[in-house]
Amino acid sequence: MIATVRGARKLRGEVRLPGDKSISHRALILGALADGTSSLRGLSHGEDVRSTAACLRALGVEVEESRVSGRGLGGLRQASGPLDCGNSGTTMRLLAGVLAAQGFTSELTGDSSLRRRPMDRVVEPLTAMGADASWPPLRVGGRAPLRGIEYRARVPSAQVKSAVLLAGLFADGVTEVVEPVATRDHTERMLQAMGAPVTPKGNGVCVERATRLRPLALAIPGDLSAASFWLVAGGLVAGSRIRIRDVGLNPTRTGFVELLRRIGFGVTAGATSDAGGEPVGWLEVSGASDLAPVNLVADDAAAMIDELPVLAVAATQLPGTSRIAGARELRVKESDRIEAMTEGLEAMGADIRTLDDGWEIRGPSRLEGARVRSHGDHRVAMAFAVAGALAHVDDTTVLNADAVSVSNPGFFEELASVCRS
Ligand code: S3P
Repeated sequence: MIATVRGARKLRGEVRLPGDKSISHRALILGALADGTSSLRGLSHGEDVRSTAACLRALGVEVEESRVSGRGLGGLRQASGPLDCGNSGTTMRLLAGVLAAQGFTSELTGDSSLRRRPMDRVVEPLTAMGADASWPPLRVGGRAPLRGIEYRARVPSAQVKSAVLLAGLFADGVTEVVEPVATRDHTERMLQAMGAPVTPKGNGVCVERATRLRPLALAIPGDLSAASFWLVAGGLVAGSRIRIRDVGLNPTRTGFVELLRRIGFGVTAGATSDAGGEPVGWLEVSGASDLAPVNLVADDAAAMIDELPVLAVAATQLPGTSRIAGARELRVKESDRIEAMTEGLEAMGADIRTLDDGWEIRGPSRLEGARVRSHGDHRVAMAFAVAGALAHVDDTTVLNADAVSVSNPGFFEELASVCRS
């Protein structure tokens, strides 16, 4: 699919977010391991979460629209073939943690993008726990029980942390993960809500073997990473006002909102409720004033890694030189997001220089519509759509725009509904 985006005069209205993708994956996987049926309202309808549901079905778990019939910690069955994780790194890495601890072998595969992504980062700790694990292709399991380890992660990755913690549910002794920088803690919160023996320790977290997990009754909040596109578009098009309700406001995810505020965006937020240990609330953004450039280093970058493509778009509109650095991880996402964003933003007239671990961007630039490639990456496609809404002349054509269905299938309809041209 090719999407055409016209420069917006302003953006107005309320947007609906897809269910949080990170929480949806975890709710399905942990629900499958629970004793009893979990009710999961508001699951992400994106293809990534569908991949997790399909893999769980292949492992003998009944998953309907919003119900998962848990099979208990010892109830998964060997799949009849390789498990297809599609485009989803979270599916592959989190399931690798669970499946490494089973008495049977599993092979996990995916599309050409996922097969290129580094899986040695899960193989290494799982092997240290005594599991049989190898890559490529990713094969895990067949040698149980595992033993707890203290794992000092080299790269900040919530997926790797979660894989090790999930394996730790099945391991003898204590499993501890210490991170260089704290990453999203949805796994820890959910395990706690399900009664698992998980405890924070310094800048790490410990888990012990679990005997049973309580099922979940969860209303999954909207995805803050999906909200980031609306925050940038609404903040940078003068006269705009966008409201976002029922959005997850977990403090390990709100770094981007705080950054936008620091550089002059008019973002307000409020808490409304708590869903299974996850804070939920609303956001509102209106036109920004007195904008300042961004200077991002490694620790900040890790806390907003999924928001960086759209932050690059925002930086084209900021005065002065913005530096978004410390984000080499962007090179091993669904695409090489550093190169993908430089290519498209340059075509739209931005003054952008690629760094090994990010970008240097001089602004403000008058963006012009262009033909840009999503590289099959959902966040790149949505970031270019936002750039298109900010452009002053010509429409922007986003090639391979259906990539958005990985996390937000309704993105372009939602964009059309809030853009006034
Ligand atoms: C995720 C963790 C992050 C993030 C991804 C979702 C998760 O990946 O980029 O979109 O749900 O744990 P890494 O763990 O590779 O940083």
